[in-house]
Amino acid sequence: MAVFEYKHPLISHKISILRNINTDTKLFRESLNEIASLMVYEATKDLKLKTINVETPIQKTETLVLDEPVTIVPILRAGLGMVDALLALIPNAKVGHLGVYRNEETFEPTYYYAKMPTNILESKVLIVDPMLATGGSIIYTIDYLKEMGVKNISVLSIIGAPEGIEAITKKHPDINLYIAAIDKGLNEHKYIYPGLGDAGDRIFGTK
Ligand code: PRP
Ligand code: URA
Repeated sequence: MAVFEYKHPLISHKISILRNINTDTKLFRESLNEIASLMVYEATKDLKLKTINVETPIQKTETLVLDEPVTIVPILRAGLGMVDALLALIPNAKVGHLGVYRNEETFEPTYYYAKMPTNILESKVLIVDPMLATGGSIIYTIDYLKEMGVKNISVLSIIGAPEGIEAITKKHPDINLYIAAIDKGLNEHKYIYPGLGDAGDRIFGTK
């Protein structure tokens, strides 16, 4: 597995906004979207292209266009906060939803919903979830997609804990992981520290 950690001033600056307890819901959502948007560039650099012919105002020429379907898979709920940013740049992408929440006592992922597009097996799949804590939710999602037969999977996460990254690496060494910031670790409640708190609650204003 390749782990790519973004070291870019714009991303660092916007992550500081997410971390701040005083950031309100609107600014939190906007900053999350902006970071996700900046992450797409690296995470899609291996998308397949094909040659087509176009006529410019000057002459006929060959040019390159995308030739690979993309499916974005947000892990509900918090992954939804990254979807619009990806769709803005890959407007033909399909979206497959996977509902998994973390049991607050066992910290194990609990499945509740899935709806995937029909062409997912031919797609490059981008799993999105702002938080990678124990890695359980993302591992569950990768297991689910591989069980369906999906081959080409990458993960985009805003903040990751070293414990979760290691767990994913061990279980799924073939997956590329794009992560905006790797934090110090997990506290006794398996929350990432320093982290940003509960991403779902901060995106949707539920606490
Ligand atoms: C959060 C987060 C991840 C998961 C990370 O979701 O968005 O999906 O926890 O933890 P893990 O790496 O230990 O599995 P949560 O279960 O709180 O659900 P929510 O998005 O509906 O709030
Ligand atoms: N889920 C979150 O939203 N935040 C964490 O720090 C861990 C799990």
